[in-house]
Amino acid sequence: MSHSNSPPPTGQQRDAAILVTGAGGEMGHGLLSALWSTQGRRAVILALDVRELAPEIRAHCDHSFVGDICDHALLERLLAMYEITEIYHLAALLSTRGEFAPETAHQVNVGGTLNLLHLAAEQARSHGRTVKFFFPSSIAVYGLPDLASKRAAGDVGEDQHCEPHTMYGCNKLAGEHLGRYYAQHYRKLAKDRIAHPVDFRSIRFPGIISAETMPSGGTSDYGPEMIHAAAAGRAYCCFVRPDSRIPFMTMPEAIDSTMRLMSAPKSTLRRTVYNVASFSPSADDFATLVRRAFSASQISFEPDLGRQSIIDSWPESCDDAAARAQWGWVPQHTLATAFSDYLLPRISSRYPQTKPDAQTA
Ligand code: SER
Repeated sequence: MSHSNSPPPTGQQRDAAILVTGAGGEMGHGLLSALWSTQGRRAVILALDVRELAPEIRAHCDHSFVGDICDHALLERLLAMYEITEIYHLAALLSTRGEFAPETAHQVNVGGTLNLLHLAAEQARSHGRTVKFFFPSSIAVYGLPDLASKRAAGDVGEDQHCEPHTMYGCNKLAGEHLGRYYAQHYRKLAKDRIAHPVDFRSIRFPGIISAETMPSGGTSDYGPEMIHAAAAGRAYCCFVRPDSRIPFMTMPEAIDSTMRLMSAPKSTLRRTVYNVASFSPSADDFATLVRRAFSASQISFEPDLGRQSIIDSWPESCDDAAARAQWGWVPQHTLATAFSDYLLPRISSRYPQTKPDAQTA
């Protein structure tokens, strides 16, 4: 099934296209609107998701397709219809959901990524130009053995502690390696190989908080869930201990970092995978700011041992020196300004019945 905002390709010549998978998800929402408003865009935007897109998301792409990234026939069809120049592969099953169905998570997260990388490489072969590929990786690729090691670790660098405890983390690490393989070594021994068919770029995101959308199936979800519950006037029971600390950023920072990395000249990039860091609050820091903004909020803590163990294996903070030096990454927020300048002003339009008591956190 597909939907179009512009005429479908005539079949005589393929339109240059940017493909976004998982377009209906939290990041897809923000990324499509950023891509759509890019000045001087020379390619049509294709959105792919397993579910029909909401009209406000569909407004930010030329053509949308409902389908599965594991469906080879659908990907072949896209390949026949368009000259894909860039792929943003956002579709994934997150860390909490993945622990209930690890093999399915592997099929979607690794199988799907392999299909998209193969599509990118075949596109490069057919039009003779490297295809740019963005892969959102995650702090879930890290695995600290216990809480004492996590607290002692400090800012964790990209090459440290890559021993994930979740299937999602294993899948993201596998995706990073597959991307590096397709970028640098694909079909090493084939006579007709083309060198560097894929320009693979990846960011290991922390937990992401959006004022507009809610995450689902992740383990960092307690941050956004706490604030959305308070804004909606609902009580919230947090599934991790108050002292739990992992890195977070706002959705606009996540989108900005993606756009910056993708527009950086290739010659400045020394890595394929980068940490980005913004702020690293404890769950209690979140609760304090939420209570300050919504005095009627009711927040309690009832740790779930399984989900807590996942959070305890993720670093407290990450070293993002390479991103800062090589492509100009700069965080925009502290936790306080994320509340005062982004979350509180925007979230009230989603829940107009509950107004924050104060716009400053
Ligand atoms: N937000 C993701 C999760 O919790 C981590 O990247 O699964």
